[in-house]
Amino acid sequence: MENIPRLAKNSDKEHVLNFCEKTFSWGDYIHEVWDSWIDEGNLIVVTQNDIPISMTHAAFYPDENMIWIEGIRVNKNFRKNGIAQKMISYLEKTAQSQNCTISRMLIASENEPSLSLAKKLGYKIISKWNYFSLESKPIGEQIHIMSNSCIDSINLDSQNSHFIESWRWIPLTDERLKKLDSENKIFCQKNNEKISTLGIITESKSFENTIILEIISGTNSEQLIKFTQNLAYQKNYSKVRILTELDSLPSIHNLENKFPFYLVEKKL
Ligand SMILES: CC(C)(COP(=O)(O)OP(=O)(O)OC[C@H]1O[C@@H](n2cnc3c(N)ncnc32)[C@H](O)[C@@H]1OP(=O)(O)O)[C@@H](O)C(=O)NCCC(=O)NCCS
Repeated sequence: MENIPRLAKNSDKEHVLNFCEKTFSWGDYIHEVWDSWIDEGNLIVVTQNDIPISMTHAAFYPDENMIWIEGIRVNKNFRKNGIAQKMISYLEKTAQSQNCTISRMLIASENEPSLSLAKKLGYKIISKWNYFSLESKPIGEQIHIMSNSCIDSINLDSQNSHFIESWRWIPLTDERLKKLDSENKIFCQKNNEKISTLGIITESKSFENTIILEIISGTNSEQLIKFTQNLAYQKNYSKVRILTELDSLPSIHNLENKFPFYLVEKKL
C-alpha cells in the first residue's frame, strides 16, 4: 500500500465505483457525486500499486475556518488497517495548514464502525438530525409561505445553527444568513408577525435530482413541506430530502422517516 494519499484522477473512477456499489443496505451515492467532487478538488485516494483502495472528499469553508469531510470509503478487503484514519489525519493536517479550526462530518446513527472511528480520532457528537424523504409533486391548494421579510424576525443562536448545502452542515453566521436571504433560500410562515415555521431550501449541486429542505423550527411544518414538494416539481427535481432536529413531522402522504444522523465535530 502506498503510504501517502494522493489526489484522485478521472481514471480512478471505475476502480472506486467497483468497491462503492453496495456499501450500505440501500447501496451508495458515490457514483452520483464523483464527477462534481473531482471538479471541486480535494478528492483523495489511498492506492496499492497505483490502484485506489479507498477514497474521501473534503470541502473547505475558509470564511467559517472549517473543513467538511465526506464520502469516506475503504475497500472491504483492506479495512481495519488504519486507512480511514490515515486519510482523515491527512485532510485534517491540510486543513490546519489552511487555518481551519474545526473539522466536521456526518455519520448515520446506525454506523457503528464510523462512529467509533470518529470517536477514536477525537470527534464529538454535536447534534442529531432526523432525515425524511419525499417525492416532488404539484400541490393544487393555496400555500402561505413567504421568502421575503423572514430574516428580520429571525433570532438564531449562531453557535448552534447550521445551514445545510449538499449534505454539508455549515455554521449559520449572520453573513451566511444575509447571503441566503439575498438568494431567496429562506422560507417562513408567520403567525401574528412572529415566525411559526422556518426553513432553508437548497438545490443540491452534487446529488442527482435533489432539493434539500432544512426545517429549523416549526410548530406546524405541513405547509412548508408541501411548498417544497411543489417547488421541486416546478424545478424538475424528483427528490425532496428533509433534515431537521425536530423529532417529528406532520403526517404527509408518502413522507418516509429514514434513519437519523449525527453531526460530529473536532477542534483542530
Ligand atoms: C468505516 C470505515 C471507513 C473504516 O475504515 P478502516 O480503514 O477500516 O478504519 P481504520 O482501520 O482506520 O480504523 C480506525 C478506527 O476506527 C474504528 N473502526 C474501524 N472499523 C471498525 C469496525 N468494523 N468496528 C468497530 N470499530 C471500527 C476503530 O476505532 C479503529 O481503531 P482500532 O483499529 O484501533 O480499533 C470502513 O469500514 C468503511 O469503508 N465502511 C463503509 C463506508 C462507511 O461507513 N463510511 C463512513 C461514512 S460516515
